Amino acid sequence: MKKRVFSGIQPSGNIHIGNYLGAIRHWVASQVELENIFCIVDLHAITVPQEPKILKSKIIEVAGLLFAAGIDPKLSAVFVQSHISAHAELAWILNCFMPMGWMQRMTQFKEKSQKQKEQVSVGLFDYPALMAADILLYEADFVPVGEDQKQHVELTRDVAQRFNSIYGETFKLPEPVISEIGARIMGLDDPTKKMSKSEKQLSHAIHLLDSPDAIRSKIMKATTDSLREVRFDESRPGIYNLLVIYKLFTGRSRPDIEAQFKGKGYGDFKRELAEVIIEGLRPLQSRYRELMDDPTRIELWLAEGASKARSIAEKTLTIVKDKVGLG
Ligand code: AMP
Ligand code: TRP
Repeated sequence: MKKRVFSGIQPSGNIHIGNYLGAIRHWVASQVELENIFCIVDLHAITVPQEPKILKSKIIEVAGLLFAAGIDPKLSAVFVQSHISAHAELAWILNCFMPMGWMQRMTQFKEKSQKQKEQVSVGLFDYPALMAADILLYEADFVPVGEDQKQHVELTRDVAQRFNSIYGETFKLPEPVISEIGARIMGLDDPTKKMSKSEKQLSHAIHLLDSPDAIRSKIMKATTDSLREVRFDESRPGIYNLLVIYKLFTGRSRPDIEAQFKGKGYGDFKRELAEVIIEGLRPLQSRYRELMDDPTRIELWLAEGASKARSIAEKTLTIVKDKVGLG
């Protein structure tokens, strides 16, 4: 029996190299030895305001990018969250087992809600209950996420345990899987902040569909410091972040990279880095263009993904409803 992996990605903003290095690339690498289920979480996306037409086109764009990055629809199930109603239904049930105090501790909500003040939606507050439902419906063994989502997976374990202790063994407890290096790629304009899809500043992130010129210009502008040495030094977050990106795209070791740039300046290093990223993204970008020539293929794969996923999700939901005494 293969272990099952579940992960989710939001169809909002532009997917960037942080998503790629921190998440998508691991999903691709693991799809032979693991049973992978990937969900495009449109219900999570509407926890903040969205333009309907843009949201719809982003769903296809994200799916196209996942397939272009190497997710194989024969090996993995990729589907859209709102295509399977069990997600919303289980989220509601789990809501009723999650104390307010647990939710109030979530740092992502605290950060996101600060920006929106009292306009913040109840959905954004409740976001972790929906995420818990996503994961628990599929009895996932592993949930690969960036560091920022670890707290939500821990909350998922907490609510699963609570439910199990009341109703008997029902949910499997998932393990978060955080990749060590690259778990947190930082913003190019501000290396003290995580690279984020929602940041509007143009030079903040490299998007997967950026042109070579855009990539060069963003890297050359990236914030560093007034020193010179190209060295992995966490106390210099700008150059450190760029070196981490370089390392992840080339697969080379730290000493090897430091030796290459010994005696060279940040400008030389940045020029090399831009080319490494351009080459690293080239195959993905050309596959993406091919796929988008005929998006019906993407829609078909999403429908196949949903039908595989639905049969698992509905089985879990039926058991849960029965235990709770619904219907
Ligand atoms: P999101 O962009 O929030 O929908 O996240 C999609 C996936 O990418 C999740 O597994 C995140 O944890 C991961 N991720 C998002 N931003 C970063 C980042 N800056 N560095 C590493 N991983 C990230
Ligand atoms: N909240 C996750 C993020 O923003 C996306 C997500 C939703 C997710 N449901 C999930 C990730 C379930 C893993 C498992 O990154």
